[in-house]
Amino acid sequence: MKLYDVYPLFNVNIVKGEGCRVWDDKGTEYLDLYGGHAVISIGHAHPEYVKNISSQVATLGFYSNSVINTLQQNVAEKIGRISGYEDYNIFFINSGAEANENALKLSSFKNGKKRVIAFKKAFHGRTSLAVEVTDNPKIIAPINANRHTTYVQFGDIDTVREEIAKGDVTAVIIEGIQGVGGVQIPTTEFLQQLQELCNESDTTLILDEIQSGCGRSGKFFAHQWAGIRPDIITQAKGIGNGFPVGCVLISPKFQAVYGELGTTFGGNHLACAAMEAVVDTMVKENLIENADKVGNYLIEELKKIDAIKEVRGRGLMIGMEFEEPVKEIRSKLLFDEHVFTGISGTNVIRLLPPLSLTMEQATEFITRFKRVLEK
Ligand SMILES: Cc1ncc(COP(=O)(O)O)c(C=O)c1O
Repeated sequence: MKLYDVYPLFNVNIVKGEGCRVWDDKGTEYLDLYGGHAVISIGHAHPEYVKNISSQVATLGFYSNSVINTLQQNVAEKIGRISGYEDYNIFFINSGAEANENALKLSSFKNGKKRVIAFKKAFHGRTSLAVEVTDNPKIIAPINANRHTTYVQFGDIDTVREEIAKGDVTAVIIEGIQGVGGVQIPTTEFLQQLQELCNESDTTLILDEIQSGCGRSGKFFAHQWAGIRPDIITQAKGIGNGFPVGCVLISPKFQAVYGELGTTFGGNHLACAAMEAVVDTMVKENLIENADKVGNYLIEELKKIDAIKEVRGRGLMIGMEFEEPVKEIRSKLLFDEHVFTGISGTNVIRLLPPLSLTMEQATEFITRFKRVLEK
């Protein structure tokens, strides 16, 4: 049997990782400024993470959500503390798309409405509702095109106000920082106005923090830079450091109903062991502060490079926009300088490294990057 061929692959076979570095099957070492797409938060093969998951799998790998799982309760408390959302409830699921899927369902169950406002260039995942609120017609199959979504220009509060006034909007969904859309940061004013409009109209404000959350922006969630408290927050990627997990943080305004949501694997014992190791390590190693410090340094250094048209970012979520397509630069970075980076569209290089990236590694990246640009 062959693999269903949907991924354009780099010709590299990564077989080992440690901290912010990975190695291929030929023993070549790479600096990882991509984190496997914002997934690796505390670093590859972190000893605490390895220990927690190994000891859990040797004890109990899985049991269903029909019995008490104190690991879930324990990790919920830790996520509540680190995020500042101790009064919210949490629902565990397996991926980012599923987290958004459940957030949108919860909103519609609560206010009975079914239109969603999403933003141009938004990416929220590939399951049915998540893809419907994603602004990319190429990945919306006819079966998913159910006209639930109105896409508004990022930052256009007047149009959001007009749409909400029509009375049929269940939720507004927005990324803490747009990732696929090119590292676009919503302004504080825009987020505060969205919160106000949603509060006034019983519309659910959903913050998708799947890429921008878990400390990456230099606060636990990127929206916390704007001082807002959304009704629902979704998170995945970094909170599992590679173990597939998703979380829906739900305001106390929502009343849980037995059977309304459910999952076989969500919040399983291994997922909890992974999340616990992530949160504990983030606290122990001050990784949120590190993301802020090293991210600011990187942003400042990158802004000095003339070849880059614009540098946007917060913490360790950074986009570098060029006048021309970046495919060749990215490829040279990987094959000549052995640095992994991400991309948004055609002209933006995206940096999403582990939050444990050191100042020395950041400097090493800048040196290698400049070498590529000078070639
Ligand atoms: C902002 C955002 N939302 C949702 C998703 C979907 O997450 P997953 O691939 O885990 O379903 C992603 C994935 O890249 C994302 O960046």
